[in-house]
Amino acid sequence: MGFSTDAIHAGQQPDLTTGAVITPIFMTSTYAQEELGKDKGYHYGRTQNFTREALEANIACLERGSHGIAFSSGVAAVHAVLSLLKSGDHVIAAEEIYGGTYRLFERIFTEFGIEFSYVNATSIENLEQAIRPNTRMVFLETPSNPLLTLTDLRSAAEFAKINNLISVVDNTFMTPYFQRPLELGINIVLHSTTKYLNGHSDVIGGIVVTSNDDYHRKLRFTQAAIGAVPSPFDCWLTLRSTKTLSLRMNKHNQNALAVAEFLEKHPAVESVYFPGLADHPQHQLAKSQMSGFGGVVTFRTRSMDITRSFLKNVKIFTLAESLGGVESLVCHPYTMSHGSVPPEQKAKLGITETLIRLSVGIEDTEDLIADIQQALD
Ligand SMILES: Cc1ncc(COP(=O)(O)O)c(C=O)c1O
Repeated sequence: MGFSTDAIHAGQQPDLTTGAVITPIFMTSTYAQEELGKDKGYHYGRTQNFTREALEANIACLERGSHGIAFSSGVAAVHAVLSLLKSGDHVIAAEEIYGGTYRLFERIFTEFGIEFSYVNATSIENLEQAIRPNTRMVFLETPSNPLLTLTDLRSAAEFAKINNLISVVDNTFMTPYFQRPLELGINIVLHSTTKYLNGHSDVIGGIVVTSNDDYHRKLRFTQAAIGAVPSPFDCWLTLRSTKTLSLRMNKHNQNALAVAEFLEKHPAVESVYFPGLADHPQHQLAKSQMSGFGGVVTFRTRSMDITRSFLKNVKIFTLAESLGGVESLVCHPYTMSHGSVPPEQKAKLGITETLIRLSVGIEDTEDLIADIQQALD
């Protein structure tokens, strides 16, 4: 089926008892057992929930994977994937990853004896140079947060295969509508569903998708054993949202391109980062592995005064953490999304205090441009 048809139907069918077209919210913590050893395959809400299963099947289908495993947040999904490793294992991670992922690696997993190397993942040679005898995983986020640099996913998947590593991609920024890493050879995809997949800024959630049965079995065990499961209501909201994913992503993409093109011409702006711009250094790579460029646009102003004044004066864009909702948001990566990254690491990555990240929503294009213009002027 086509993507939009799957987005609306995959994992769902009219309810068997009532015919309800929309999958019900099964708010139950436990299930009646007919007699000892005889039940309907459902025992306890942490391990099985029908609404959650529908969401997992839906997103797994959109990512063209066999299994989806839903979690109560994006970082819980990252945590579950890292739980595939054991003490003494080494991970090669992209240096430009979400600040909370970096914090999870450095403050939690290093305590359990897992080692990390952070590399500039725009070049596969950098990944190759970081390999050690105990390397087990390569963890990527492309486009990266907040500077939107890309990793060549086909080459990264090949590199992981040759070296017998588990390849993982955080696909939050693109969603399966614009990028499907599993089709390019990656083993595991994960999302903060908090962002575009839910898309309405009213749920915190995460999901992992894989076609590997062994990883699936282990991740499913972790889901039940750690217990970071999403509520049935949150699953239902996210399932409601994926139905409109293609429409929303097209509009995010269209608005983001218009905003990026406008910013490029404004004298108060020093540089603009958006892979959809023809002069983005990785535009050709973007076109070869993505079918759109998403809704995040990052830019650097010419001074901290301009940055501060912009953040204070925008009206439609709300100064807030997060991204991927229908409404436009603006974030100051230095103090917000990447606040937990040490200053020297931020300096190395180019996350300066003048940097601004826009999550361009699906409002009318001309209203967004006018808002940016008045705030910059
Ligand atoms: C790319 C990316 N991955 C993971 C996360 C973590 O997701 P959550 O906030 O749902 O735990 C975020 C959150 O901002 C993110 O931007």
